Amino acid sequence: MKNIHFNDLVSRRRFLTGAASVGFVSFLNTTGLTIKNSRAQDILMNFKPVKANNLDTVTVPNGFRWSLVGSWGDPLWSGTPEFDHKSRGTGTTQEMSVGDNNDGMAFFDIQGRHVLAVNNEYCNFSVIYGNRKTRSPANADDVKKGIAAHGVSIFEITRKAEGWRIVKDSPVNRRITAATPIELTGPAAGHPLLKTAQDPTGRLSLGTFNNCGNGRTPWGTYLTCEENFDKYFSAQDKYLKMSSEQKRYGLKGKDAGYGWARYHDRFDLGKHPNEANRVGYIVEIDPGDPTSTPKKRTAMGRFKHENCEVVHCKGGQIAAYMGDDQRGEFLYKFISKNKFMNGGKNSELLSEGELYVAIFEDSGNGRWVNLRDAGMSRAETLIFTRAAASRLGATTMDRPEWVSANPFKAEAYCCLTNNKNRGRVTHQPVNAANPRADNKYGQIIRWEQTNNDHASDSFIWDHFVVAGNPTVYENEYAGSRNVKADNMFNSPDGLAFDTLGNLWIQTDGNYSNQGDFEGMGNNQMLMADPSTGNLKRFLVGPKECEVTGMTWSSDKSTMFVGIQHPGEKNPKKCSFPGGKGTVPRSSIIAISRDDGGVMG
Ligand code: FEO
Ligand code: CA
Ligand code: CA
Ligand code: CA
Repeated sequence: MKNIHFNDLVSRRRFLTGAASVGFVSFLNTTGLTIKNSRAQDILMNFKPVKANNLDTVTVPNGFRWSLVGSWGDPLWSGTPEFDHKSRGTGTTQEMSVGDNNDGMAFFDIQGRHVLAVNNEYCNFSVIYGNRKTRSPANADDVKKGIAAHGVSIFEITRKAEGWRIVKDSPVNRRITAATPIELTGPAAGHPLLKTAQDPTGRLSLGTFNNCGNGRTPWGTYLTCEENFDKYFSAQDKYLKMSSEQKRYGLKGKDAGYGWARYHDRFDLGKHPNEANRVGYIVEIDPGDPTSTPKKRTAMGRFKHENCEVVHCKGGQIAAYMGDDQRGEFLYKFISKNKFMNGGKNSELLSEGELYVAIFEDSGNGRWVNLRDAGMSRAETLIFTRAAASRLGATTMDRPEWVSANPFKAEAYCCLTNNKNRGRVTHQPVNAANPRADNKYGQIIRWEQTNNDHASDSFIWDHFVVAGNPTVYENEYAGSRNVKADNMFNSPDGLAFDTLGNLWIQTDGNYSNQGDFEGMGNNQMLMADPSTGNLKRFLVGPKECEVTGMTWSSDKSTMFVGIQHPGEKNPKKCSFPGGKGTVPRSSIIAISRDDGGVMG
């Protein structure tokens, strides 16, 4: 691949668009120009980009400020002690406090309360068990703490003079953990593959874990996405052989370090092989009712779910775009059977529908193929979704992370974060959508749906940006034309459009600032203009963090951003957010403008 240039791609896109190009041009002439006019005046669009750095703090541009909202271990109820930097909490305090490694999140206004629902993806053993010499769980209470550090934290926040703060004891406060009862819904519920000793009906599972990105529905629910669920299972039987279905999801007999099977048999694959079939789903949660039972949506497939971008189809159905984040896995779309009814009963829209997988043709065209054509039973298609998609010849992708849809047309973007296997293993050959062997920098692909309708089963696609390092390379690893020395980054991951049509990109990449990554600094967040391809670095995170998760207050004056696992490798050398002598803690920050204007 020689030339990946944003401008060339735009021209190719216009050429390929054919009849649909009228829609594309009219976007530029109407909505696009409106955005541009406001861009010209607004500090949000005209900020001076921040330089890459390796500081142990958050850096935002002049004219903006950030403050801390909450961190791992902050208590949600007044009877629970504040985070103890020495012990790093107990099983019981963790059950009553914000979980670890916050990732995707969403802001809701519910009956006069401001509510944040936040995913707690995983734990870094050297941080959560940093009180132990072994940096690993030493007893049953350590495992209880680990289980409680996962899942979702839901809590009220309020705006004070000093910034947004958690409201302890709010009636909406809730912890959902890897032990919370969750209903299995949809076509696979009750299937023998979902029946376990713990739940012989196959309709109830215990817990949600490795909750990565998120989604939200037009009917006000929160979607949390189960990603690397394989890491929590193991087997006492050292000689246990994994089935091909288990291998496809990375399940192994060897404990990755959580030690859950030591104290809970259900995580032992030799004793309860179906237990792992109950995780890997989209989970729907009512953030306003802490007594409600969350629901796993089997109709949306089982894979390593990144996020879930819900959009409206022209015909009234709901579509949801979902990435499966593993090297060489696929991109999916769900379309609900029933239509969304404004103000009507929509609560089961995600329990029934069709699931499609993407084929990105080298021509720049693409298709959504229905998984019903894979020739597997309905339940098996939804439980072993990866196998069904492989049978249909889906395009192997460079690790699909977040998808976000353009609010002004039926177009969506997906971060393909990186893939060292591309071009190195036979089933992941270089193709036009994933154009570089040993892809260390990643790219953002986008597709425009035929007839401007998310329900269409065809699209045209191009790359919005191909990341790279133009100061180190002059070949394809330099990236696309919109990547420059002052805005370069690697491993795009979090992705969201704001209501003005700006595209925000968060990174989870190599922060060594050396070699191939020299000049990129710590992980960061950029703002992009989808109509020009212009990219500007807006934020640099603290040392060894990933920047992930974003949402806006209803009045758009605050943007909430997640700082995940600061100090993940060298926790003794990092201390965000507490400063010297404190344990580095995953945190949620609030960003606003000095002039109080909108943040998107
Ligand atoms: Fe949890 Fe794919 O990031
Ligand atoms: Ca991610
Ligand atoms: Ca990632
Ligand atoms: Ca992460």
